[in-house]
Amino acid sequence: MGLVPTMGALHEGHLALVREARRLASFVVVSIFVNPTQFGPNDDFARYPRDLDGDVSKLEAAGASAVFAPSAGAMYGPGEETRVRVGATAAPLCGLFRPGHFEGVATVVAKLFALVGPCVAVFGRKDYQQLAVIRRMAEDLFFPVVVVGHPIVREADGVAMSSRNAYLSPEERGRARVLVEALRAAGRAFEGGERNPAVLQAILRRVLGGEVIEYAEVLRPDLGPFEGAIGDRALLVLACRVGKARLLDNLVVGEEAVP
Ligand SMILES: Nc1ncnc2c1ncn2[C@@H]1O[C@H](COP(=O)(O)OP(=O)(O)OP(=O)(O)O)[C@@H](O)[C@H]1O
Ligand SMILES: [Mg+2]
Repeated sequence: MGLVPTMGALHEGHLALVREARRLASFVVVSIFVNPTQFGPNDDFARYPRDLDGDVSKLEAAGASAVFAPSAGAMYGPGEETRVRVGATAAPLCGLFRPGHFEGVATVVAKLFALVGPCVAVFGRKDYQQLAVIRRMAEDLFFPVVVVGHPIVREADGVAMSSRNAYLSPEERGRARVLVEALRAAGRAFEGGERNPAVLQAILRRVLGGEVIEYAEVLRPDLGPFEGAIGDRALLVLACRVGKARLLDNLVVGEEAVP
């Protein structure tokens, strides 16, 4: 049994996770659930894109065996109160900007693991910190689930696919390219021999220019800070607001090809 948790409004990134799950498991469940506990009071829960019928036909074509699309009341029944408390992995980056977000993510993924009983679950590396939080949770709570990370699937111009790209006007969609362009510029500098994290971070910030940066960090792939120079690999990780959309992107230099 394989599981691919999603919030729906599916794109090719999600479908790549489904195909990967299908390679690893004979029966693949895709969950579609816009999880209220991972949204803050000022987040976009109410207007998050929803298209269940469209999603189901895409999933059939991608080889999913079953779709699990529960109601909020089914996942959080009367009297429910239990939450998965996350730790240091969830603290920096998105954890600073979205208080409670990863607690909601970990809680709903724990519920999905319990309900579906997968032996493998596939998550995207676009949400790099989320993947790290889920890996940590699965290990700490002894879930018998192999957590697989899938590379970021990009549009033709390099922009990471995201359901929230639907919020972008054509002009904003053009500006959204600065995230991948920043990763490219810093990635090329790394490949040219630059190993100073502060220099790579300055390149990220320079290319992001006037966009609203939530964070633009150069960290160890385990999310820890560098003390001194970068070794073999570094995580370049970005969150920016472009119009109404909050966009994420990242690149592990020394491990992944520059996009
Ligand atoms: N471009 C992508 N490449 C690979 N995996 C992706 C991509 N986009 C999303 N995923 C993965 O799909 C799973 C479900 O994510 P989700 O439904 O939140 O989609 P999303 O595109 O991230 O939407 P949003 O940006 O609005 O959060 C997660 O594991 C996520 O990392
Ligand atoms: Mg997402």
